[in-house]
Amino acid sequence: MAHRALRIITAAVLAGGVLTACTTEPATTGTTGGTGKGSSDGKLVLGFAQVGAESGWRTANTKSVRDAAEKAGIELKFSDAQQKQENQIKAIRTFIQQKVDVIAFSPVVESGWDTVLKEAKNAGIPVILTDRAVDSQDTSLYRTFLGSDFVKEGQEAGKWLVKEYGGTSAPVNIVELQGTTGSAPANDRKAGFAEAIKGDPKFKVVASQTGDFTRAKGKEVMQAFLKSHEDIDVLYAHNDDMALGAIQAIEEAGKKPGTDIKVISVDGIKDAFVAMKEKKINVVVECNPLLGDQLMELAKKVAAGEDVPRRVETKEGVFTQDQAAAALPGRQY
Ligand code: AHR
Repeated sequence: MAHRALRIITAAVLAGGVLTACTTEPATTGTTGGTGKGSSDGKLVLGFAQVGAESGWRTANTKSVRDAAEKAGIELKFSDAQQKQENQIKAIRTFIQQKVDVIAFSPVVESGWDTVLKEAKNAGIPVILTDRAVDSQDTSLYRTFLGSDFVKEGQEAGKWLVKEYGGTSAPVNIVELQGTTGSAPANDRKAGFAEAIKGDPKFKVVASQTGDFTRAKGKEVMQAFLKSHEDIDVLYAHNDDMALGAIQAIEEAGKKPGTDIKVISVDGIKDAFVAMKEKKINVVVECNPLLGDQLMELAKKVAAGEDVPRRVETKEGVFTQDQAAAALPGRQY
């Protein structure tokens, strides 16, 4: 009863609400959300299975989700998968047993979700994908995706490079630090970048390896790159943490990051803006982790059985060194 009443109130409140993002695919209607009974005090219950705490981006994303749940009066059941798919699957199964109203998760990797998503569907619990996508053919297994266009982010990184080296035909040797193997941002940022540079044979990706989105691994892999390749011109890192780790490796090797080796990164955390201001990173393609408010709005909508867009994308920019100092004070993460 409490949950039914909540659904009616929620629907009324959301009638005036706005999703503050651009939508790229048509809306779908699902079954009325959740067989869950809400919390004992009548609050909507959201189970959220987070990837882990691998990066500054992730820390900001977790804070955004926690803060937004509190602000929206939603009871959040939070689980940290420590970058392991099996932990996320376990967490989702626990949420199903607990009969939460809505499940949201940011999939560690793209593949291997169909079984657990079918279990959620059979239990009548709507699922929202946040930040990362899955490759399931059956798109009825989730109601919506909220996050970034990672292919576009990779393209932006590549476009900057093409422009930067527009005046020369000399070879440009690139090393790439990939994100977590099999994850949507690693797959898509790699593909988008490759597509943007493929028209010019002077660009050569001479080494490409995962740094698992962490600072420590970014440093370790960059050290190996520096040992095996004397003539690196550019580092393309799929996130800021790996770029910042790699910068340490470059400096320890007696080279100047940003000058001897140009550095391209993705995310836009404050530490990266500081490094850009210090001329150690050349360009940052933004990826916005502040998804909490939009997630709560979508959770309320799917729980109330309302239409939601299939895809809700965040707006993002590209920042260069000349913009870093002015942008730094305003960075929220
Ligand atoms: O899925 C988003 C990516 O995950 C961020 O770019 C990275 O920093 C994080 O770990």
